[in-house]
Amino acid sequence: MTALPLRQRSAWLALEAHRNTLRATNLRTLFAEDPKRGQRLRAEAEGIHLDYSKQRVTDETVRLLVELAKESGLGERRDQMFRGEHINVSEDRAVLHVALRMPKSASLVVDGVDVVDEVHAVLDQMSSFATRVREGEWKGHTGKAIRNVVNIGIGGSDLGPVMAYEALRYYSRRDLTFHFVSNVDSTDLVEALRDLRADETLFIISSKTFGTLETLTNATSARRWLIEQLGDESAIAKHFVAVSTNAEKVAAFGIDPENMFVFWDWVGGRYSMESAIGLSTMLAIGPERYFELLDGFHAMDEHFRTAPFNENLPVLMGLLALWNRDFLGSASVGVMPYEQYLKRLPAYLQQLTMESNGKHVTLDGSTVDYDTGALYWGEPGTNGQHSFYQMIHQGTTVIPVDLIGFAKSLNALGEHHDILSSNVFAQAQALAFGKTADEVRAEGTPEHVVPHRVMEGNRPTNVLLAEVLTPRLLGSLVALYEHSVFTQGAIWGIDSFDQWGVELGKVLAVAIIPELESETEPSLAHDSSTNELITLYRRLKRNEDTHGN
Ligand code: F6P
Repeated sequence: MTALPLRQRSAWLALEAHRNTLRATNLRTLFAEDPKRGQRLRAEAEGIHLDYSKQRVTDETVRLLVELAKESGLGERRDQMFRGEHINVSEDRAVLHVALRMPKSASLVVDGVDVVDEVHAVLDQMSSFATRVREGEWKGHTGKAIRNVVNIGIGGSDLGPVMAYEALRYYSRRDLTFHFVSNVDSTDLVEALRDLRADETLFIISSKTFGTLETLTNATSARRWLIEQLGDESAIAKHFVAVSTNAEKVAAFGIDPENMFVFWDWVGGRYSMESAIGLSTMLAIGPERYFELLDGFHAMDEHFRTAPFNENLPVLMGLLALWNRDFLGSASVGVMPYEQYLKRLPAYLQQLTMESNGKHVTLDGSTVDYDTGALYWGEPGTNGQHSFYQMIHQGTTVIPVDLIGFAKSLNALGEHHDILSSNVFAQAQALAFGKTADEVRAEGTPEHVVPHRVMEGNRPTNVLLAEVLTPRLLGSLVALYEHSVFTQGAIWGIDSFDQWGVELGKVLAVAIIPELESETEPSLAHDSSTNELITLYRRLKRNEDTHGN
C-alpha cells in the first residue's frame, strides 16, 4: 500500500494539531505536572542510555510520532535495506553497510552472491596486513619497518578514519604515527609529511571511486615525494596501498592490485568507516579491537531491526529529530560530545546527516513541501560552553542539542571527570528550565539587569550517557546515528544514499582550473562576478611582492 503524501497522513495531521496544543505549555510545567517524566521518557540499547524527557514532547507526541513512522512504512523500508534491495533509487544500488558488520557465521545473499563471505574475505586480508605492519614484518623499500601511516582520502574516505582514529586513540599503538590528509590545499599534505621519513611511511590511498580530484592530486604528490626521497619508482610497491571499489583505476595509478583492499558499490562513502576504508583504524587499534568495533555496530543494527519502535533507540532519535525539524521549526542541531576523544564526531556526523538528508525531492522526484535534514555541527564540551552556548541559551533561534557523556574517563585524573560530567547534566537542566525574572530578582539582581539574565528555557536536549568509550561502544554510537538518519529519510520519503548536490560545483571547478593556470589571459565567459574574481585572482597571483614569494 502506497502511503499518502507526508503532510496528508493522519498521524502528521494529528501531530500538527497536537503541536498547537503543546505550545501552551513548556518543559517546566511538563516536569512539574509529571514527577515521573524523567523516569519514563528514556530508552536504552547497547549500553547507550537516552534521556529524551527534556525534549518538547509528551507521551502523546511519541505515540503519534511512532504512528507516523508506521504510516510511512518505516519498518518495510528498513527490511528492504536489510534484504539488499535497491533502496538507493537514483543510483539504483543496494544500501548494505549493515552487511559490513555481520558476523562471519551470518549470510546475506544479494544477486546470487553471499556478501558476508566477501566482507570477511577482505577483513581477513586487512587483518593479516595490519598484523604484518604492526609486528614490523612488513618492510619498506629499504628494509625498515613502518612507523608512519598516512591516509589520503576525503569525505567518507577521510572523516570516518580520522574520527575513529581520534576516538580510539586510547587503544592505539603509540609507536605508530597516523596522519590524515584530505584537503587539496597543499599545506595539508606538506605539513603532514614535513617530519616523516619516506622509508618508514605507508600511504593508504582511500577512495571509493578512485576518481576524486582532491585525493588523486594528493596521492600523486605523495607518490612524487616518496620517489624523490627514495630515488626509486619501485618503492611504491612497499609504501602505497589502496582502498577502493575501482580496481582498474587503482592499477592505472600504479598501485599493485595485490596491495588493494576492496569494498563495494553498495557501501556509501559516508557509511564506509567499517569497510576496508577502516584500514587505518585497524592498523591503529589492531584486528581484535577492530572486530569489537564491528560487533558494536552489529548489535545496534540488530536492535534497530528488531526492537518495537517505541523502544527503538535509533527510531526514537530519528523521530525526535523530525519533530524538532518539521513541527518545532529547528533548522540546526548541536552535537556536543563531553569526551575529548570524540572531538571529530561532530564533523563526521555532519557528512552522515547532511549529505544523507539534505534533499529537496522525494524518491519519485516530486519536490518536498516540508523541511528535510537539519544543519549538524558541534564541538567537544566544555569548550563550546565558553563560546557559542550563549546563543543556544538565550538566542532567538531554538537549537536542539545532543549532549553525549560517559560515566568514566579513560584517563582519570583527580576530579576532572566529575567536573566535566556535571556540565552535561547542568547544561541540559539550564536549557530546559532556564531562569524566570522572579528567580533572577530573588538573587538581588538590579531591575535593569533582570531581563538580560532571564533565560526562557524550554530548549530541547537529548542526553546520551554510556559507561566508557570503547571500540564496541563507538560502533553502537555511530550505528545509532546512521539509523536515526535512516528513520528520518524514510519518513521524508527521500533518497538518503545519493549526493547529487555535490556534483555541479565539481564540474564547474574543473572548467575553471585551466583558466587559473593558463599562461596567457583566458577569455572568460562566466557570469560577471565569476569573471571578475578570476581576473582578480590572476592579478594577485602575479603580484610577486605578496608574502615575499
Ligand atoms: O563529493 C562527495 C563524495 O562523493 C562523498 O560522498 C564521498 O564520501 C567523497 O566524495 C569521497 O569520494 P571517494 O571515496 O570516491 O573519493
